[in-house]
Amino acid sequence: MDHAAFVAHELIAWHARFGRHDLPWQRETTPYRVWVSEIMLQQTQVATVIGYFDRFMQRFPTVAELAAAPLDEVLHLWSGLGYYSRARNLHRAAQLVVAEHGGELPASAEALANLPGIGRSTAAAIRALAANERGAILDGNVRRVLSRVFLVGTGTEREREKKLWQLADDCTPQENVATYTQAIMDLGATVCLRRRPLCPGCPLNARCGA
Ligand code: ADE
Repeated sequence: MDHAAFVAHELIAWHARFGRHDLPWQRETTPYRVWVSEIMLQQTQVATVIGYFDRFMQRFPTVAELAAAPLDEVLHLWSGLGYYSRARNLHRAAQLVVAEHGGELPASAEALANLPGIGRSTAAAIRALAANERGAILDGNVRRVLSRVFLVGTGTEREREKKLWQLADDCTPQENVATYTQAIMDLGATVCLRRRPLCPGCPLNARCGA
């Protein structure tokens, strides 16, 4: 098995046993719920996000309700999560979705990435997690996992970035994309830690460059 196929295969098997399966946004998986959860998870840990996510969904169950709300109310529900530009962008994006996409989140990663606050990686994560659509993701956790496994250490910032996106794409399987995507993010968040990685419990240990 080549290295990229090994990574996907091991991560999918690992996730079945050790991954997270009952988070609120995994229970009823709609693009809207995955979008809100991904924005909250960008700079905030899962344990903190859960309560905020549930309250947010109770108050704004649909994109239309979020779009129609006063910004103050959105910020109020965000208070404590920090990085308030995330909430402003979410609100603005919801208004664009209502005005330009008939109230449904666009169904392509390209169109999602044109909305405020949604970058290339988050767009791919929304499509992968909500629709099992194949697309490479590269957030901070995934960047760290791939840098270590494939020993991406040399070159300019731009060369490294290009290499990492290439590896992210190589590793993304044709099937089980949602599971794979959640697995590599969970591995980065719970095993391949920035400061003391838990290598003995890592499914990629046998073929990790680091
Ligand atoms: N960080 C960003 N998105 C995440 C997700 N879906 N699960 C865990 N950590 C994340």
